[in-house]
Amino acid sequence: MHYNYTVINQKVLFSIYEPTVDMINNTMQILMISAVLVFSIALNIYLIFNRGGTATITTNQLNYYGSIHSSSSRDGGGEVNLISWSRAAAEEAEAVAMIQCSGHGRAYLDGLSMRGEAACVCNSCYGGQDCSVFTPDCAADANSGNPLFLEPYWMNHAATSAVVVSGWNRMGYAYEDGSNISKELEKIIRRLHAVVGNANTSGKYILFGTGATQLLNAAIIGLSPPPPHSDRDHSFSPVSVVASAPFYQVYKQLTDIYNSLNFKWQGDTSTWKNKSDSFGNFIEFVTSPNNPDCQLKEPILRGPYVKTIYDHAYYWPHFTAIPSPADSDLMIFTMSKLTGHAGSRFGWAFAKDEAVYKRMSSYLSINSMGASRDAQLRAFELLKMVVKDKARGLFEFGYKTMRERWEMLNKSLSKSKRFSLQKLEPRYCTFFKEVTGPSPAYAWLKCEREEDHDCYAVLRAARIISRKGSVFSVEDRYVRLSLIKNQDDFDLLLHRINELVSQEEQPDLKTI
Ligand SMILES: *[C@@H]1O[C@H](CO)[C@@H](O)[C@H](O)[C@H]1NC(C)=O
Ligand SMILES: *[C@@H]1O[C@H](CO)[C@@H](O)[C@H](O)[C@H]1NC(C)=O
Ligand SMILES: *[C@@H]1O[C@H](CO)[C@@H](O)[C@H](O)[C@H]1NC(C)=O
Ligand SMILES: *[C@@H]1O[C@H](CO)[C@@H](O)[C@H](O)[C@H]1NC(C)=O
Repeated sequence: MHYNYTVINQKVLFSIYEPTVDMINNTMQILMISAVLVFSIALNIYLIFNRGGTATITTNQLNYYGSIHSSSSRDGGGEVNLISWSRAAAEEAEAVAMIQCSGHGRAYLDGLSMRGEAACVCNSCYGGQDCSVFTPDCAADANSGNPLFLEPYWMNHAATSAVVVSGWNRMGYAYEDGSNISKELEKIIRRLHAVVGNANTSGKYILFGTGATQLLNAAIIGLSPPPPHSDRDHSFSPVSVVASAPFYQVYKQLTDIYNSLNFKWQGDTSTWKNKSDSFGNFIEFVTSPNNPDCQLKEPILRGPYVKTIYDHAYYWPHFTAIPSPADSDLMIFTMSKLTGHAGSRFGWAFAKDEAVYKRMSSYLSINSMGASRDAQLRAFELLKMVVKDKARGLFEFGYKTMRERWEMLNKSLSKSKRFSLQKLEPRYCTFFKEVTGPSPAYAWLKCEREEDHDCYAVLRAARIISRKGSVFSVEDRYVRLSLIKNQDDFDLLLHRINELVSQEEQPDLKTI
């Protein structure tokens, strides 16, 4: 009913601007238009206040006509009758989402296709057209840090987290203020940190990057300005970039790949511990919680020329208690381990020092002209939803999932004398306002037997794929097991660990 009136309205409005010959007819017409307009407005008002009745109008329709802005339209689950250009895209997206893949896979718009239709991308160890075929002796892959443990959360919040991108959305290079940063997204990020209490962002500059990776890069460059030309040939030596083993290997790779005159990878922090007090320029990476062992970390080096890059990718209540807000000069965060959207490649950094901020900003500008506007839109919608309930929903789900996984793994390995896990203590979490048990992103497993110096090989023989200790610059007696992958991956990992631990008991039985 409303639809008809609107159409009349539009026709009439068009006719106002049509040149007419007959002045009298014209006056009559204007009178009629006015009458119709008044009636239409009255009807609109009636419908707005009587939405529960027989009328089919919804807040979505009203938004479409621009007459009312309602932020509740997403939660109201209102009917959708007047969606026009976005309908086909929405139908396409929902049709793909409907493909079930037996609960062991996912279909994507831009994923595999069969006969022109989206096909299932199966989880590891599952196959067949609908991912229903399990391969029994398949190895559990716990290598990568793919944060798919949050996928069920987003599927349960499909309506509030979807975003429609028009064909003409933000085609230009810059935002309206000439920057490469969405100011609205910045506000939401700062609010999120305030709500979670994991970072003090006040008085700090913000930078956006293509994932944390690009920002780590920018940070090294930002903290190692080139020397004055006169110094280059004699007194100058490059800044030493270090991290404490076990550390994330990308720090070394990012430093080495430039082969720069300004900075140089110098390995494990402990080698330099006693030398940095007096002289020497250092950049120390501090990952807190640490990847791979998930311990909260502090810098090792002190001294007037020591600069620190805090990688806080995992400093969220899913993975650790939050004892207090981080408040250092250079802090890096990423969507990847917060919402699980590793594929969006979006991260941010806070820098206190203006000169450092400017050098980082200039690097980001030269390197990629800032973070993708599409990624920023996605981040905006997702984070807006996260902060809406003071971030309870996401972190309660995330913590519960990670906590349960850790407890199961711990229980399974508690029977073992051959393997041990890193020790993590319960701590008071200022976000949950209670003491929370460990819920690490990774298990840092040690092979205890003398002969098991290659822990990766021991696990590989038991059909478990881990990441070698040497990748983190420590002995191969250690391996990292990822606990943040999807449920199928975790279930299979736990199953294989149980098998391995039960084998351990058998020789004992024989000796009795
Ligand atoms: C946050 O940082 C600002 C600026 O450095 C400082 O004034 C404020 O006291 C800090 N807040 C907390 C809670 O530490
Ligand atoms: C550094 O100094 C401390 C004592 O100040 C000493 O115990 C330690 O062994 C030294 N470390 C290295 C790597 O030299
Ligand atoms: C944004 O990107 C443009 C390139 O289009 C660059 O010229 C400009 O310096 C960037 N602005 C900032 C604030 O980084
Ligand atoms: C499991 O957790 C308990 C309590 O924190 C701890 O004492 C035990 O050592 C853990 N087991 C393993 C295998 O790390």
